[in-house]
Amino acid sequence: MKGTSCEIAVLQHVDEMMTFSTKCRNENLSLGFVPTMGALHEGHLSLIAKAKTLCDVVICSIFVNPTQFNDPKDLLLYPRTEEADIALLKSAGCDVVFIPAVSAIYPEGQKVRNYDFGTLTSEWEGRFRPGHFNGVITVVKRLFEIVLPHKSFFGKKDFQQFSVIREWVTRAEIEVEIVGCETIRAFDGLALSSRNSRLSAEQATMALAFSKALLFIQENKQRNNVKSLLEKAKELFIEKEQIELQYFTIANSETLEPLEQITEANYQVVLIAGFIGGVRLIDELELN
Ligand code: PAF
Repeated sequence: MKGTSCEIAVLQHVDEMMTFSTKCRNENLSLGFVPTMGALHEGHLSLIAKAKTLCDVVICSIFVNPTQFNDPKDLLLYPRTEEADIALLKSAGCDVVFIPAVSAIYPEGQKVRNYDFGTLTSEWEGRFRPGHFNGVITVVKRLFEIVLPHKSFFGKKDFQQFSVIREWVTRAEIEVEIVGCETIRAFDGLALSSRNSRLSAEQATMALAFSKALLFIQENKQRNNVKSLLEKAKELFIEKEQIELQYFTIANSETLEPLEQITEANYQVVLIAGFIGGVRLIDELELN
């Protein structure tokens, strides 16, 4: 809480989380919420920092959501570093960390609803991770119902996730403001991700191809023909490395429809995803 101690409350039960949030709301305190799957890094901490500037109370959840993993191996290998996460959140000034059990989030079994927002949910991550956004929206909906936030903070590294959540909140008329926060990068340009901890040193160097390709597009966007820009960027960076590219596109940053030309009239985002070793990484860059 603003100007108070640096203690952090660790809550595990749905009712205690709801009681806390209801009490804060009754006292007219604004609640900022950062949902995470743990394995926290500077990217997450930047969300906490942003939430602290805009809200009276900051709540973070740590919940590795089984329904958003289409690959069971990915779920199994997802890094879990709860103690270190709590220590990081405490030093970042987060007020509450909510760490529910799977049975608390899914009391009636792991059922998800189907959400179809056209290109926003069907392309890019939607194509390569079928059902992923159904799991994401289902868990965020449940967490919002428990945490009762006024604002919720999402990293734009997962640009499509941010866009999908924003669309869902608008369509469902949910009274939570979705705040998108900039991608945080290491000194060498690598976008911070919990999955980076699974990369060997050699793979981490290879992964720089993603941020280099994005930067190349940024620096050459006046060439404006999307197909040739993407091909050149691939040839210069991606094809040199052992990367299994899944998608690389320049899309309208509102609709995520792929673009053929970059013009003044549209806002663009470059989206990229692929495997390096067995590790799947994604990155993004907004061009304007
Ligand atoms: O971005 C993530 O870590 C997850 O997709 C989220 C939003 C916490 C939902 O499980």
